[in-house]
Amino acid sequence: MNKFKRYLVTTALPYANGPVHIGHLAGVYIPADIYVRYLRSKGEDVILIGGSDEHGVPITIKAKKEGITPQDVVDKYHTIIKKSFQEFGITFDVYSRTTSKTHYDTASEFFKNLYDKGEFIEKTTKQFYDQKENQFLADRYITGTCPHCGYEEAYGDQCEKCGTSLNATDLINPKSALSGNVPVLKDTKHWFLPLDKYQPFLEKWILNEHKEWKPNVYGQCKSWFDIGLQPRAVSRDLNWGVPVPVEGADGKVLYVWFDAPIGYISATKELTKDWEKYWKQDDTKLVHFIGKDNIVFHCIMFPAMLKAEGSFILPENVPANEFLNLEGNKISTSKNWAVWLHEYLQDFPDKQDVLRYVLTANAPETKDNDFTWKDFQTRNNNELVAILGNFVNRSVVLTHKYFNGSVPEITQLNDYDKEVLGQFSIIKKSVEKSIESFRLREALKEAMSLARLGNKYLADTEPWKIIKTDEDRVKTILNISLQISANLSILIEPFLPFTAKKLCALLNIEQLKWDGFSQEILKSGHEINKPILLFDKIQDEDVENQLNKLAATKKANEENKNLNPLKEDISFDDFSKLDIRLGTIIEAEKVPKTKKLLKLTVDTGIDKRTVVSGISEFYDPKKIIGKQVTILLNLIPRKIKGIESQGMILMAENTDGELSFVSPEKKFKNGSQIS
Ligand code: 2FM
Ligand code: ZN
Repeated sequence: MNKFKRYLVTTALPYANGPVHIGHLAGVYIPADIYVRYLRSKGEDVILIGGSDEHGVPITIKAKKEGITPQDVVDKYHTIIKKSFQEFGITFDVYSRTTSKTHYDTASEFFKNLYDKGEFIEKTTKQFYDQKENQFLADRYITGTCPHCGYEEAYGDQCEKCGTSLNATDLINPKSALSGNVPVLKDTKHWFLPLDKYQPFLEKWILNEHKEWKPNVYGQCKSWFDIGLQPRAVSRDLNWGVPVPVEGADGKVLYVWFDAPIGYISATKELTKDWEKYWKQDDTKLVHFIGKDNIVFHCIMFPAMLKAEGSFILPENVPANEFLNLEGNKISTSKNWAVWLHEYLQDFPDKQDVLRYVLTANAPETKDNDFTWKDFQTRNNNELVAILGNFVNRSVVLTHKYFNGSVPEITQLNDYDKEVLGQFSIIKKSVEKSIESFRLREALKEAMSLARLGNKYLADTEPWKIIKTDEDRVKTILNISLQISANLSILIEPFLPFTAKKLCALLNIEQLKWDGFSQEILKSGHEINKPILLFDKIQDEDVENQLNKLAATKKANEENKNLNPLKEDISFDDFSKLDIRLGTIIEAEKVPKTKKLLKLTVDTGIDKRTVVSGISEFYDPKKIIGKQVTILLNLIPRKIKGIESQGMILMAENTDGELSFVSPEKKFKNGSQIS
């Protein structure tokens, strides 16, 4: 007997600082949607909770870079993300956001409650402070030299070169990423949740009572326990987030990983007044769908928070997935190495289910997996088109051809027919078992096996060969084929909801629930609709276009990689000290015994002066007479190979080291100022 009366299913709240891509869909949202669609089909009481995670340092960094407010950033991406999920048929009961009033109240109250119970440790630690910007610096806001590998641009929380986790105080020559200044260490008070105190409870709860959890999740938790849990700060010095609701905490907000999971509770409150029934009754099954980078927060930190509060249930399962790579490389937002959902739909309109299918068939359930466009094409053409689409199409086309679209009756069942019909419930049961144990790729494969069975049945019985001689037999064959198609509409609905809808329309039936599964969904004489194709082929050209797009991204990334890093900021006053003007080259000759130097005479409008320039490899002196260029005039003269150079010609340099004059778009008077 199922001891659960209802299901509370949550999906990781994505950061609202960029659109969502196939990695998000494959890792979290499609699996959760399959699970809840299945439960709804079984008639269970289930709610699917989602929303945007709108706090945290990366959002403030993005806002600063773009010169807008953090609220602008999250408003923009919350809308985009929500739309993408809708378009892919993710059936959230609520899709909220952590900047909502309900969330601020809920998160504050949660913190206050633990605070009042004395659950936190207050500690004063030293943290970097930017005296110019008058603010404490989150670890991400500090850069410096990695003490492990010497990389000069390491972040305060991690070195991206060698991957080591760091504390900002480990960095050699730390610099504030806000101002470029050297930060100072200053005392700051924070609140810590003593995870070590909860270790015995958590260890027993997971390691003894949840041995059924996926090995990747169980294993990660075990290794945290082996290292030993430490108190964890739940507040930050930042001006973006839920303010710490205690006296003397000005300028401090809740740590994003404290407030984000509470977002699941706030969203449930927004959905229903009955929210406590879902969060506080033991007969609710709470399941968190997340990616592997979120395991520690959902299996250790959030449960410790819930346990400390005392009135909430804990998750029954946390089926975290590994990562999906793209064409052999890690998906990366900053490198634009991703298939963005909104772009996919522009390139493949109405093909949501193809992506849902491929991402489920190849889901990173037990290890990181790779998405390739070739595999996308192969699975579409060889599985969706050739197996599912082809079987349904043949059943429908033959019924129209021989029986005017009316479902024929069963005349007599032979042993083979009985064996095929007997498979129905076996397949259904194995799909159920797999979904309930979160093995969704296996579940999809089993659902597809009903279509495979149908294809084989038609191929073995060959009704087109016997229609003239044995119409009664053909009636039975097509009746069974159509029953298979109708049952498929139930089995595939959690995975391919758009296709299930089309299939129901084709068969002229309502979408049936899970218990509608039967050997006789379609009564004889029922009229089905005219054939339409459920899927069509993905062409080589479509795959090439996508690969070309990725190749262009790769090329752009390679080029950007060789670009020199940005220099430090300067003031406008610094810039206006430079006297840059247009001038025309009136004489040019090689400087003897040098490879690179040309001696130029430039008419600057004010005077005619000599400039030595290292451009001989790129310009023939005879061909540049008369060329108008830009020249820095007030550079202190210096002697180069015995010639006094009275200025500097400005050159653009590409990543291959090639030089090119910077010339005005139209000829202006010499001496015209560049400003
Ligand atoms: O990793 C992430 O994208 C986080 N924003 C997930 C938060 S999940 C939950 F706690 F809200
Ligand atoms: Zn390093």
